[in-house]
Amino acid sequence: MGLVNCNNISDLRKLAHKKLPAPMFHYIDGGSDDEWTLGRSTDAFSDYELLPSYLKNIENIDLRTKILGTTLDLPFFLAPTGMSRLFHHEKELGACKAADKFGTLYSLSTLATTSLEEVAASTAGPKMFQIYILKDRGLTREFVTRCKEAGYQALCLTVDTMLSGNRERDRVNGMTMPPKFTLKSMMSYITHPVWAMNTLLHPDFKLANVAHRVDAIGKSTMGLMSYVNSQFDRTVTWDDAAWLVKEWGGPFVIKGLQTPADAKRAVEIGASAIMISNHGGRQLDTTPAPVDCIRPIRDEVGNALELIVDGGIRRGTHVVKALALGANACSIGRPYLYGLASGGQKGVEHAIDLLAKEVERDMALLGCTDIASLTESYIQQRR
Ligand code: FNR
Repeated sequence: MGLVNCNNISDLRKLAHKKLPAPMFHYIDGGSDDEWTLGRSTDAFSDYELLPSYLKNIENIDLRTKILGTTLDLPFFLAPTGMSRLFHHEKELGACKAADKFGTLYSLSTLATTSLEEVAASTAGPKMFQIYILKDRGLTREFVTRCKEAGYQALCLTVDTMLSGNRERDRVNGMTMPPKFTLKSMMSYITHPVWAMNTLLHPDFKLANVAHRVDAIGKSTMGLMSYVNSQFDRTVTWDDAAWLVKEWGGPFVIKGLQTPADAKRAVEIGASAIMISNHGGRQLDTTPAPVDCIRPIRDEVGNALELIVDGGIRRGTHVVKALALGANACSIGRPYLYGLASGGQKGVEHAIDLLAKEVERDMALLGCTDIASLTESYIQQRR
């Protein structure tokens, strides 16, 4: 099976499973604890039904979407995900170039394996940097300066990762960064020779945005991941988020909020958008599906915030439902990582193309020709 045989995101997932050694596949695919939230985030879309409106001129479907002060060609974009080099040697560069090709936004994680400057130099497309407020506030401040200099449009503060969720699949499969060569992992690498060969040819496993700091403070003997884990700060509060909003001074997203009360706080500190997200079911298990949080949050904040919904989106109808319920845009994580693992930049392009065509077809079948007109009249909760 190759990319051309992948007719949907589920097919891409199967191909990624074939191409990747077990630790890497399950690092993408897995969630926390019992993975209830992971499954529920997709399943919950089935609790909503689309209500088509017929006999309209649907010849031209306009998917352009205004978000974060910029107009995207699609109503969804690529969510921040760490350590892309584990999945393909084209890593973040493959993903950001694919996003640019489709006129959509790429979000770069603090924990990326490509530096924010290298990404900026490789694509003129819209870019957002995902930041954590770390114990080393100097590093957080440094990111703000670097992002301004590199021309990032928006900053995204992730607030649901004060510590890492309980990812049991990672322990079972021996996932490490950089990958370790143990007896068990060797078997997995031998049965995935293309991945193993590309790893030998491009052994560039580094957390490019923080690596300099690790070396500069003389912690080169400390594993990169343990450095990062030691930097997660459990004392971060809304005051710190308010400080960062001011430091940045541009479009600012808070990622990981799920309640109307927290959304209201985001408005109060001057954020321009929130990402309604449970981190793809990788942090606190048994939190709600993002799609179920849209209406209550929209009711609370009105138009004071842009709402981005992320988690469980695997079909065009999922994007359409989120928008009809009140989201301004969606973002996707695993769908494009399955693509990256399956074929680098080409694989990410295939993932975006599949979803974009589905959204366009679904909009036409729904009788809705543009994103701004996609309102609650097109959706109902299943009885
Ligand atoms: C993530 N996510 C994430 N989020 C973030 O703010 N910073 C990060 O570094 C990462 N890293 C990361 C790695 C991997 C492998 C995955 C799958 C996810 C979460 C991501 O931004 C997004 O919230 C979810 O992926 C959305 O859910 P779906 O689309 O994967 O179902």
